[in-house]
This record gives sequence, C-alpha cells and structure tokens, in this order.
Amino acid sequence: MDTMMTEHTSGEGPFFRMEKINKFYQMGEERAHILKDIDLNIEEGEYLSVLGPSGSGKSTLMNIIGCLDVATSGRYTLHGRLVDELTEAELARLRSEEIGFVFQNSQLLPRLTAQKNVELPLIYAGVGPKERRRRARDLLDRVGLSDRMNHYPNQLSGGQQQRVAIARALANNPTLLLADEPTGALDQKTGRQVMVLFRALNEEGRTIIMITHDMNIAKNARRVVHIIDGELTEGGSANDA
Ligand SMILES: Nc1ncnc2c1ncn2[C@@H]1O[C@H](COP(=O)(O)OP(=O)(O)O)[C@@H](O)[C@H]1O
Ligand SMILES: [Mg+2]
Repeated sequence: MDTMMTEHTSGEGPFFRMEKINKFYQMGEERAHILKDIDLNIEEGEYLSVLGPSGSGKSTLMNIIGCLDVATSGRYTLHGRLVDELTEAELARLRSEEIGFVFQNSQLLPRLTAQKNVELPLIYAGVGPKERRRRARDLLDRVGLSDRMNHYPNQLSGGQQQRVAIARALANNPTLLLADEPTGALDQKTGRQVMVLFRALNEEGRTIIMITHDMNIAKNARRVVHIIDGELTEGGSANDA
C-alpha cells in the first residue's frame, strides 16, 4: 500500500518550500555567509515562528521569504511558483497581493488616518473607493479599532498602531502573513494582545510566519524553528517532511 505517500492533488506543489537557500554578502574583500543551506517547508494554514538571536539572519531570511530580496543560491517556491523565474511585475503582484507584511515599527504614513493607511494597499491593487472603504472599516473592526478609524498614527498608542499595520497587511487578503519582530516595539501586555490577534487569524486559516528573538513570543506559534548563525533547525513539533 502506498498510503504513506504525501498527496499533492494539484500540480502546484507545496505551498511554500525553500531548498538549500544560501545568502552571501560581499563586504569589501570579505564574503560573509549569512544564510546556510536553509531547507524549510510550510503548509497552508501553518503558524510558524523563526526564533533566533540578533544577527542570526532572521531579517535576511524574511526579506527573501517576502520576495524583497533574492537568495544567492537555492530554490524557493511559493504557491507552486519558483520565485527565481518570476518577472519584476509578477514579483510586485506577489508582494502586493499574496504577502502581508508586518514590521517591528508599524511604518504607518503619519499624514493618513488609520482607515486611509489600511486603504493604501487596496489603492495600489486597483480596488475602487467604495469597496476600499468597506474593507478598511471591516479590517479595523476586526483588529478592535472600529472607534479609531479616523485617528492619525500619532493619536494612537504603539499597540493600536501595530494593529492598524496588521489590518493594512491583511487588506488584500494575502495567503501569507509575514511578521518581523511584530511585538519588538511593544510592552508585554500590548505584545500579548497582538499575539492573541495572530492566533485568531491563524485559527481562521491564515498562514503566518513570525520572526522573533523572544522565546516567549515564539511559543505562541504552533511550530518553532531556530536560526543560529544562519543555520535553521526544527524546534517545535515533529518535522514530518
Ligand atoms: N545588506 C547587508 N550587507 C552586509 N551584511 C548584512 C546586510 N544585511 C545584513 N547583514 C549582516 O547579516 C547578518 C544577519 O543580519 P539580519 O538578517 O539583519 O539579522 P537579524 O534580523 O537576525 O538580527 C548580520 O551579521 C548583518 O550584519
Ligand atoms: Mg532583524
């Protein structure tokens, strides 16, 4: 019997796969080896955290996952497509519509209200004004900010700003939510609220990759991998790849 075989019903392949990803930076004469033969598979609906100390290569990895940067070598497949083979236009569409980014600092535009900040990615995606407004309001409601829609970022607390940033990341209904130290600038209590939100988003089926140096934050994810000095090791539940 071949029931042990993993089944991929579509010809698309796995949701997310990295094979032997390496990243080097040339620093003058030195060639620094930042990411070392990284292998990583993620299924749709997973909640993964990448835990590692400062300087271990987390942001470098995040930028490659988010198609903001490219690996020096290796294969990266997202949603069945080999990222290396995509054109600039296809990459831009992928970043805008399939990946939602959350950074340590919310990076909201200071001169736009919470609602307008959330609408911004929808403008880039060509969504009309009425639908934009509706979606932005729904999302702000979703993150518990229905009473703060018309506030400007400097009228919001750090945690509220980060929730606006999460709503913005979700605007185009991305398949993957990618967060780099999302609680790094928050106090513990506010950080916990963001973790509650991430857990709820994952329970709704959203795939999440969260990068952090903080073990207490990492353990909110369902699966934890460790990165140390550019090498990735599985740390959470059993790896059945
Ligand atoms: N553009 C770059 N050029 C050269 N070295 C870099 C560059 N970006 C990051 N690095 C180096 O790569 C290593 C990993 O950085 P980074 O991915 O930002 O780590 P982390 O996010 O885990 O703190 C660090 O030693 C850093 O100095
Ligand atoms: Mg970093």
